[in-house]
Amino acid sequence: MNKTILALDVYDLKKAEKLVKDLSEYIDIFKVGPILFLQSGKEIIKIIKECGKEVFLDLKFHDIPATVQRAVESAKDLGVYSLTVHSCGGREMLELAASVKDRPKIWAVTVLTSQLTTPKEVLQRAELSKACGVDGVISSPLEIEIIKKTCGSSFEVITPGIRPLKADDDQKRVATPEFAIKTGANYIVVGRPIIEAKDPKEVAKNIYESIKGL
Ligand code: C5P
Repeated sequence: MNKTILALDVYDLKKAEKLVKDLSEYIDIFKVGPILFLQSGKEIIKIIKECGKEVFLDLKFHDIPATVQRAVESAKDLGVYSLTVHSCGGREMLELAASVKDRPKIWAVTVLTSQLTTPKEVLQRAELSKACGVDGVISSPLEIEIIKKTCGSSFEVITPGIRPLKADDDQKRVATPEFAIKTGANYIVVGRPIIEAKDPKEVAKNIYESIKGL
């Protein structure tokens, strides 16, 4: 599986469909978040799956445990590959979410990469997530190494905040694709650097080439 996950943060189904088709050489998992899901959730999931690709449903569930458990069951019925929950939802919520049988992978958000935090806080959230049976965490590239060291190499780390070049936007804790993969990330999540590029295919290709074989 290619290690770049594309964040399909667009409003328009046609635009999303074009990105899935144009970039399929370099991307195997497409992230559907609230922006697109609220516009055309089921349609885009169907399109991605018909292209033989996987869906990462990034709705970051954070609610009472029973509601999150049912949300995981509904996501499973949609056939998604993975989904996100907020680790700050707490132990009971994480455990119930993880208890769903034959469920998609669950990746817990430690702390959003747009927020400043401490490695200690991130690590506490990662350890809690692991103890509750979650498959991995979404975390900043700057914390990959310490999470892998503490939680073990089979605990997955998926990292947004990836910037091939210096960018001036809301992501505060950023790194290049090479740095993230070399440090042990299982997947990198890239959105605006690809989808807002003049030539998204060229940027996706460059990222693919830069981490191929690492
Ligand atoms: O456009 P950009 O490359 O910053 O996109 C990053 C994606 O990763 C966005 O869809 C954002 O919602 C998501 N994300 C994040 N930080 C997290 C979890 C998810 O930036 N902790």
